Amino acid sequence: MRILVVGNGAREDALSWRLAESPSCEAIFAAPGNAGTASRGENWEIAATDGRAIAQRCAEQRIDFVVLGPETAIAAGVGDRLRDAGITVFGPSRSAGRLESSKIFAKRFMQRHGIPTAHAVVAHSFEAAERALDEWDGSVVVKADGLAAGKGVVVAPDVATARSLLAGWYGGARIPGGGSDIVLEERLEGREVSVFALCDGRAIVPIGAACDYKRAGDSDTGPNTGGMGAYSPPAGFPGELYDLVRERILAPALRGLLAESESYIGVLYCGLMWTVDGPYVIEFNARFGDPETQVLLPRINGDFAALLHSVASGAIDLSLTTTSSQHCVGIVLATSDYPRSNTPLKGLSADVALGDGCRAFWGGSQRLDGTVTTGGGRVLTVTALGDDLSAARGKAYAAVEQLAGRLGTGALTYRTDIAAVSP
Ligand code: AMP
Ligand code: GLY
Repeated sequence: MRILVVGNGAREDALSWRLAESPSCEAIFAAPGNAGTASRGENWEIAATDGRAIAQRCAEQRIDFVVLGPETAIAAGVGDRLRDAGITVFGPSRSAGRLESSKIFAKRFMQRHGIPTAHAVVAHSFEAAERALDEWDGSVVVKADGLAAGKGVVVAPDVATARSLLAGWYGGARIPGGGSDIVLEERLEGREVSVFALCDGRAIVPIGAACDYKRAGDSDTGPNTGGMGAYSPPAGFPGELYDLVRERILAPALRGLLAESESYIGVLYCGLMWTVDGPYVIEFNARFGDPETQVLLPRINGDFAALLHSVASGAIDLSLTTTSSQHCVGIVLATSDYPRSNTPLKGLSADVALGDGCRAFWGGSQRLDGTVTTGGGRVLTVTALGDDLSAARGKAYAAVEQLAGRLGTGALTYRTDIAAVSP
């Protein structure tokens, strides 16, 4: 197969790597891709959201299969545009993708179909939010409705903090993601875990799980980010994790999608809080996680490209891959101002090869004359496989130190407690 990956982050670098390693992959392309995808295939200078241009180039380049990476491509309807052009796509339609692109849609979907989730109130204006807060007691999670790259959620310890945050959002500053609606949510207590399930439109099957570290600083301090590190498989969860997720979340979600005639083809990312009563959905995402993908894919053996293609063709074939019992830890190297702003960096070494079960995946970046330029933010994810979590963690941090020296810059920072404390 000639395969196109849409997107330009470290998730897409990992997808491109794993797809390219698959026996059924003949050639790999990326749109727009990054320094990593450029090392194994052609990058097209086309935005991930430009469905028309992607469809046209796919026809010219005889692409057999497209894997959508980011939520922005799904929300822009790239999957719909490609399917209209007769191309096989892994990634849901824009409509089904509202499970991620609208927190309000997702919340109401979960309420309609009995999927456990936090109690929530939707508000379309500052006044409505204020009225809801008048009745509120204790901490409150404030969520912007639209896509905000992990930056549209604030866990406010009390009502006063939530009020002043909302006054800022509705006053001078804009609401993250650019919308006008918000969700106020009860705060759930427990441990977070992300479960990834493949859905071919008729069946939904979990294929892996990971723990992600969302806060910028060590010991879970600082603002929420897209994710600063991850490990897989999750440690310290009940043995029946998958059974409970299947029964309480995936089965009702699939019934709901079918009842509402939504064609969901791709991965359903269930961001869960494991409470004393079991799993509650914090969020659904309509695509693979970043950085979770970077720690999931090194653990999947076999023909991953054929597996995703079987999903996209409506007949998932789980016999195409197996999951390794090894553990994988991933650490994100970011510019020190992330997530507040992104400082571009130039002249980074393009050589990020690492030995012995370790890999580095590039975030948004370009390869120019043997060096790499990045827009900043999450620059690299460094991953390592090991026979247990602590072995994988030791190898990952050793690789980070090795790479930080080689990149020739002190401008990158990272958390030092990934896979050492519960996220
Ligand atoms: P989201 O973008 O909805 O995944 O939220 C980002 C992060 O905010 C989550 O990973 C949690 O750490 C936190 N969060 C969101 N909703 C809740 C909730 N209802 N209770 C506790 N923490 C939450
Ligand atoms: N790591 C969180 C996400 O991909 O949304």
